[in-house]
Amino acid sequence: MALTIQPTASTLGATITDVDLATLDECGWRDVENAFNEYALLIFPGQALSESAQISFAKRFGEIEVLDKNTLTVPLTNKGADGKLLADDTFRMKLLAGNEGWHTDSSYMPLSAKASVLSAHVVPSSGGQTEWADSRAAYDKLDETRKDQVQDLTAYHSYFYSQAKLGHEVEVGAGYGFFEGDPPLRPLVKVHPETGRSALYIGRHAGRIAGMDDDLAEKLLSELMTFICQPPRTYTHTWERGDIAVWDNRCLLHRARPYDHREERVMMHTRIKGDPATELALNA
Ligand code: OGA
Ligand code: MN
Repeated sequence: MALTIQPTASTLGATITDVDLATLDECGWRDVENAFNEYALLIFPGQALSESAQISFAKRFGEIEVLDKNTLTVPLTNKGADGKLLADDTFRMKLLAGNEGWHTDSSYMPLSAKASVLSAHVVPSSGGQTEWADSRAAYDKLDETRKDQVQDLTAYHSYFYSQAKLGHEVEVGAGYGFFEGDPPLRPLVKVHPETGRSALYIGRHAGRIAGMDDDLAEKLLSELMTFICQPPRTYTHTWERGDIAVWDNRCLLHRARPYDHREERVMMHTRIKGDPATELALNA
């Protein structure tokens, strides 16, 4: 049976049913890939994939970006190794708090991410949704003056910078993402390698703009973020255990929504590398 694709009411995202991702054939994959390029976010309810099936699905999109050398699927969870819930002042919880700001994955690395896969394993009784924003649709709606203004600008992306803004000073060597070289420099307007659509490529990791006063850069980036992250360019998914989503980091922003940390939340994340031809920083 052909899979069913139900677009959301927003400018991005579709829900796909009538498919078993664990046994996806070539024909099904082509439909998924086309939908991915069109909607940029795909949600597959109730797949309940095993870890290896999630990795195989992620590998359809490209090579896995290794965030932790021991595993290709990284848990995003407030539960510690000892089975107890972590306190908000722990390193991991400070990183998870950072995820509640609009961002795109690995923009702070020399090679930014193509896509991310996320599945829900334990969901809190309320909150803890994930939200996405469409920076392609936002670019399309900029007025011509704004388009001209941003066209040739470039911004430095840094995880040190985005965490510091939350009051979290991270030391060099703290772990993946805290890149020690010069912060990657990336164009504000990113052309999608598959669709040719332009998107605003910013987010919370983008701080300084090359050749611009820092205060002016902060003001411009904040205005652009506000513009991107508003209806009809946002979509919120309320997770149920077993749901899996994949999104395109080249043209969407995303964030986690808050929840009560006395409840457990366990998500499994697999990240797909960008293409060096199009996702390598200008100064890499
Ligand atoms: C991610 C992320 C948000 C969430 O997986 O990259 O930012 O809702 N997740 O957990
Ligand atoms: Mn993320």
